[in-house]
Amino acid sequence: MQIGIACDHGGFELKEELKTYLRSIGHEPVDLGTFSKDSVDYPDYAIQVAEKVSKGDLEKGILICGTGIGMSIVANKIRGVRAALANDLYSARFCREHVDANILVLGGRIVGKELAKEIVKIWIETPFAGGRHQRRLEKIEALEEKNFKF
Ligand code: RB5
Repeated sequence: MQIGIACDHGGFELKEELKTYLRSIGHEPVDLGTFSKDSVDYPDYAIQVAEKVSKGDLEKGILICGTGIGMSIVANKIRGVRAALANDLYSARFCREHVDANILVLGGRIVGKELAKEIVKIWIETPFAGGRHQRRLEKIEALEEKNFKF
């Protein structure tokens, strides 16, 4: 699977590590920046991945900033994006099973590289459970529809 990946300076090192890891488990990272440790603004990079996921150009994406918080806030403003900040394994599993999160967000200054790899693996491999959770996602979509009419 092609997986979009982007970061700010707080997530640069982890992004590079995860690109190698994604390739090692048979996926193709699509790197949308940033490309150095120089200070940048996380909204400029969150939007790169979020828009592609929203349009269906990419099925899934990974965003990394220092805490993961800024990236999450930006990505969730884009229609159809369900970005989950998952800095632990339990969240990684349930953001897929219950929320069908199409973007995983990580805090590059919070999670270690090995934990981040496990989080990514679980997030990729866990399917959406559907059922009652589908009804809840439909309520989120209805809210997005309403907001677009303001
Ligand atoms: C950048 O210093 C930092 O604010 C950013 O990476 C992120 O943690 C924001 O949520």
